[in-house]
Amino acid sequence: MKFFIDTANLAEIKEAQSLGVLDGVTTNPSLMAKEGITGKDNIFGHYKAICEIVDGDVSAEVISTDFDGIIREGEELVEIDDKIVVKVPMIKDGVKALKYFSNKGIRTNCTLIFSAGQALLAAKAGATYVSPFIGRLDDISTDGVALIEQIVLIYRNYGFDTQVLAASIRHPMHILQCAEIGADVMTGPLSAMLALLKHPLTDSGLEKFLADYQKGNQ
Ligand code: E4P
Repeated sequence: MKFFIDTANLAEIKEAQSLGVLDGVTTNPSLMAKEGITGKDNIFGHYKAICEIVDGDVSAEVISTDFDGIIREGEELVEIDDKIVVKVPMIKDGVKALKYFSNKGIRTNCTLIFSAGQALLAAKAGATYVSPFIGRLDDISTDGVALIEQIVLIYRNYGFDTQVLAASIRHPMHILQCAEIGADVMTGPLSAMLALLKHPLTDSGLEKFLADYQKGNQ
């Protein structure tokens, strides 16, 4: 399972990269705005800075909603760095753009996926990744993890190459549930990744080992 971090915060990306388990980064316009990154030049510069930190794919989202605009933006984004994957929204012109990019060998991440039908369409159009938002589904009392399960089954049935990127991860249990199902990738906050390493028996066990060492080596 690949681990992507879902942020535009360079310090968090550096920390996740230093753990040695990071496979990529996803961003979106809201995450860029949260870091105060505005204006095309600054946004493109920030993508470059992210690419220089991380070994792996970096999703950069288009803001156009028409076919020509999505294509123009996507072609500019991939010029920033080889690591850039063009993030395209699940709308009609987005599906057309996925096919266009796929024919040109440009990698894509189809975002804002909330149903298996949308995921099927994106795979047929040649998306590299699909991003079903499980946390946002849970937020409206719908089982987000069940959607991941449905998409994984459909992709396996037909041997689609599109990777299932479980997005909108809120906590470590989401990561584990997606891992059990066989999601190819998860993208979430640093806090959810770090929560995976915590166990009270690890902490108390280590405390005792260190105390016993001290006793025997005074
Ligand atoms: C996916 O790539 C999105 O950036 C993301 O995971 C959205 O998550 P949120 O629901 O926490 O905003």
